[in-house]
Amino acid sequence: MTLQIVEKGPFEGQKPGTSGLRKKTRIFMEPGYLECFVQSTFNAIGGAAGKSFVIGGDGRFFNAAAIQTILKMAAANGAARAVVGQGGILSTPAVSHLIRKRGTDGGLVLSASHNPGGIDEDFGIKYNIANGGPAPETVTAGIHAETQKIAAYRISDAADVDLNQLGSSRIEEMTVEVVDPVADYADLMETLFDFNKIRALFQGGFTLCFDAMHAVTGPYATEILQRRLGAADGSVINAIPSEDFGGGHPDPNPVWAKTLMQRMMSDDAPDFGAASDGDGDRNMIVGRHTYVTPSDSLAVLAANAHLAPAYAQGLAGIARSMPTSTAADRVADKLGVACYETPTGWKFFGNLLDAGRATLCGEESAGTGSAHVREKDGLWAVLLWLNILAERGQSVADIMRDHWACYGRNYYSRHDFEAIPTDQANALMQALEAQLDRLAGTQWSGLTVAQADSFSYLDPVDGSESHNQGLRIVFEGGGRAVLRLSGTGTEGATLRVYLEQYVDASGDHTLATDAALENVSSAMRDITALQEYIGRTEPDVKT
Ligand code: G1P
Ligand code: ZN
Repeated sequence: MTLQIVEKGPFEGQKPGTSGLRKKTRIFMEPGYLECFVQSTFNAIGGAAGKSFVIGGDGRFFNAAAIQTILKMAAANGAARAVVGQGGILSTPAVSHLIRKRGTDGGLVLSASHNPGGIDEDFGIKYNIANGGPAPETVTAGIHAETQKIAAYRISDAADVDLNQLGSSRIEEMTVEVVDPVADYADLMETLFDFNKIRALFQGGFTLCFDAMHAVTGPYATEILQRRLGAADGSVINAIPSEDFGGGHPDPNPVWAKTLMQRMMSDDAPDFGAASDGDGDRNMIVGRHTYVTPSDSLAVLAANAHLAPAYAQGLAGIARSMPTSTAADRVADKLGVACYETPTGWKFFGNLLDAGRATLCGEESAGTGSAHVREKDGLWAVLLWLNILAERGQSVADIMRDHWACYGRNYYSRHDFEAIPTDQANALMQALEAQLDRLAGTQWSGLTVAQADSFSYLDPVDGSESHNQGLRIVFEGGGRAVLRLSGTGTEGATLRVYLEQYVDASGDHTLATDAALENVSSAMRDITALQEYIGRTEPDVKT
């Protein structure tokens, strides 16, 4: 075996976005592309020598090949140890847990999350730091800087490691340990929740359908829900991870998890439905005939977390991304704990969790999690819901009704306008930003603008600042529209419009979401001149 130094790079555009570097798979497969990004990552963290890493991904096309390359590069850069999931598989929360449990220096997650997989679809890579969470902006900026000046990468010409074989082997001086991807994570879940109580729920005839969407949570959900908790065989559907997610779009929302939605709205719907995404960090929660928005789910979990053993002592605080509805804020208020509003992206929760300021975190994009790891965690959210349902003995619909009767309801929807030419999207955002100062007091569709600004975040733990994190228009009477451009897309620009309307505890909680949001939506269309800038007012996807 010899170490090779291959002259290559730099490649343009290797800038980590909301969640690592995401590109079309074929771009990642270009000779040296993945390698230059990985070498830049090692360079940015002061080298890999003597360090240990967890490496795994969601099993999408190119996952296994990318892991072989990364292992040979880690070895050539002098790393001491790599811990890899069997078959190259590890869910994102499982990577986070393994980094923390093994005390490794960091980890590399291969995934493009909920984006489709395949040679003509998407691939991604994300670096996580020693706390188990996504690298903060200071680190990703350092990686980006390295990608712009890289001229060569180091790699061993060793043979591939057998990723299907559990146990240890070596590449050069580096130990490669192939581990069961599920066991440690499932054990962690047992420490957080009352498994006996949930088991009794299933024994009492409670029914569940979990859609793994042909993605990474299949083996995790089968082990935890069916094997350890006794949910009936067949409760987990689409349970075998496939390289292209069965040709689907592994995003757990009512649009992409249509089969599950139809089943949950049918006459013989199970009591509880849930789905998770490509890499297992997102979740969708549905009761019989009842869809729960991710923002509401965060609020309900926060209000009821004390019913699960891990949170029996209460919450230190709650954190939500800015576009997420303010439903959780009302719960924090009532609990008398702090509520933090962060920019979009899980990396912003890391400091709050590390400092013990927040216990639960959530994003409107179907991400919820807690201090048990430093990533959002799909199955964790499902288990917390099950623990709450087991304790309360009510249906999901009843729990939602009670919640709104206590806190009021935040009607909420996100509208995505995809593949917009980048210049049009930028022009729209610039024009809106330019008029923000003048919006307060103006009236649109019967609503008065109370306040409008561009969101900036001052991290209360390390004092770092993040600017331009979304444009907010707040209306009198509890309405809000937020606009931002996606940082995870791989084609053109995706405009995300987040719409919210609060109705207080004594108001009508039975409206259709679109109807409740009509005024906010039409005010947003007029203020932004949406039609004029992008030529349409109907989104591609509403979640
Ligand atoms: C999207 C979501 C964001 C989430 C990220 C990674 O980012 O909006 O909440 O953290 O995916 O899963 P965006 O494409 O909006 O930048
Ligand atoms: Zn994901």
